[in-house]
Amino acid sequence: MNILHIDCSPRHDSHSRRLSAALLARLKAANPDAGVTRRDLGREPIAHADADYASVLSSPGALAAGATESALRLSEALIQEVERADALVLGTPINNFTVPSVLKAWLDQILRMGRTITTTPDGEKLGLLQDKPVYIAIAAGGVFSGERARQPDFLTPYLTAAFGCIGLHSLQFFPLQATAFLDHEQLAAAQEALLATLALKAADSSRA
Ligand SMILES: Cc1cc2nc3c(=O)[nH]c(=O)nc-3n(C[C@H](O)[C@H](O)[C@H](O)COP(=O)(O)O)c2cc1C
Repeated sequence: MNILHIDCSPRHDSHSRRLSAALLARLKAANPDAGVTRRDLGREPIAHADADYASVLSSPGALAAGATESALRLSEALIQEVERADALVLGTPINNFTVPSVLKAWLDQILRMGRTITTTPDGEKLGLLQDKPVYIAIAAGGVFSGERARQPDFLTPYLTAAFGCIGLHSLQFFPLQATAFLDHEQLAAAQEALLATLALKAADSSRA
């Protein structure tokens, strides 16, 4: 089994990093032989889509011609990391109601028409990747979900749509909320409560 572990916070004392590491530890405990591929977007951000990549994606003709190897190199490497993984563990803060830009930059390389997405004759989008569990640790300074939410949530619907359109539908969200207001003990208790909701998918132990 191979786990792709992605973190998006730039902070060292990061709640989403701590939670994603705890999720990873649970998966590794269930699959002791699992290998881990690391993609640290928070500390080593990838570049935003550049002119060559944007041009290729905007031009089906250029894509079909295949003269695009260098423009697609980063995208191809990142997609292959996802393809090689049996499960993804993603740690991310919520920034201004949605994903941080480092995660958006990664998704811009992963969601690629003709490679990870196709369309039906009716124009409906279909994901080309094999479904796999995606465990998503979220840290939020405030409260964005549940009855006490005081802000919109553009993060969980966005990630559901973005991963869904490439074929990844088995998402589990672990929202650690109110990090700006809770003390150390309260945060540790909240993290334990979230970890108790972890439902390991059959694939996590059967695709070793
Ligand atoms: C630029 C920026 C935007 C933020 N926007 C939000 C927000 O919209 N909602 C929220 O609840 N917290 C927001 N926060 C607070 C972070 O989500 C919170 O500090 C979280 O714990 C950061 O994750 P980390 O601990 O993994 O670094 C924002 C923080 C930053 C730096």
